[in-house]
Amino acid sequence: MLVDKFGRVIDYLRISVTELCNFKCRYCMPEDNQFNNIGRDNILSYEEMFEFVKICLDNGVKKVRLTGGEPLVRKDIQKFVKMINDYKPGLDLAMTTNGYYLKQKAKELREAGLKRLNISLDTLDAKKANFLARKEVLSYVLAGIDEAVNEGFVIKLNTVALRGVNDGELIELLEFAKSKNAQIRYIEFMENTHAASDLKGLKKDDILEILSKKYSIKEITKSPNSPSSLFVTSDGYKFGIIDPHKHDFCASCNRLRLSADGLLIPCLYYEDGQSIKEAMRARDYTKAREILKAVLDAKPEKNKWENDGKGEISSRAFYQTGG
Ligand code: 5AD
Ligand code: SF4
Repeated sequence: MLVDKFGRVIDYLRISVTELCNFKCRYCMPEDNQFNNIGRDNILSYEEMFEFVKICLDNGVKKVRLTGGEPLVRKDIQKFVKMINDYKPGLDLAMTTNGYYLKQKAKELREAGLKRLNISLDTLDAKKANFLARKEVLSYVLAGIDEAVNEGFVIKLNTVALRGVNDGELIELLEFAKSKNAQIRYIEFMENTHAASDLKGLKKDDILEILSKKYSIKEITKSPNSPSSLFVTSDGYKFGIIDPHKHDFCASCNRLRLSADGLLIPCLYYEDGQSIKEAMRARDYTKAREILKAVLDAKPEKNKWENDGKGEISSRAFYQTGG
């Protein structure tokens, strides 16, 4: 079992399979992003990543999520899905995607053994989607969501709630998610140095206030490791709010992150991590396990988003860690 020094059991591995993305969301990266310089040679191959996944699965990891960047821009991602799923067919295997390529890829992902999808959907207004992603994206994303529904995926929709951008649409987005049999999760904007500086996020209470104009809402007990608080509307629809500005987000954190170039990252907020790249390339799995242990020992007790606006901001890039 993987346990950190605060006694948290780490059983959830998130792998950013590429830092590349076909969107440039304002909350994630600057317009002139120069991140495209990790270089192909520095990206772990699927085989190298898979050997590390095996170490984790053999040590009690129960859930694996593929993220990016945008995971569907990496070639043949379904092959990596299949490698993992064949090793542990019962595994909770999920992906976070912007949805753009799902129309083409949903079927083969499902066949490869992927079970769940978290799809980003911040707005149902094409102009706003264009503004946020800095690209015409909405019609592709909506077609992708429909395809994923058809393929029988369990779906969550992720919505970053932003003042003056989508705060007038939160109810509409909830009803859209409900109509697709998907759970919506509103995410508080996490300040970071790569995001546009003029963005202002809504906090959990602001979101609840808006939704309360139409629905009466009750909080329900959340599942222990989820970073999101769970709520139910009077008509029985369940939705989540992810509020990283609160302490308890970290108290139950069960996550470890691997970046595309092999950095093992103990916490989404902080810059530090240690590379397993050389160890994986040398097939030195004893060394890889040592690095894994060191990274778990370095996992911080909590993030600092609650202090933001009053000092430092995270410089960790979401397109490297996959959110
Ligand atoms: N704040 C909150 N959520 C973010 N994401 C990316 N950047 C941020 C940020 N700064 C989330 C989005 C997206 C997922 C991949 O990561 O919800 O859906
Ligand atoms: Fe876990 Fe770090 Fe995220 Fe907190 S900020 S929930 S410790 S990964």
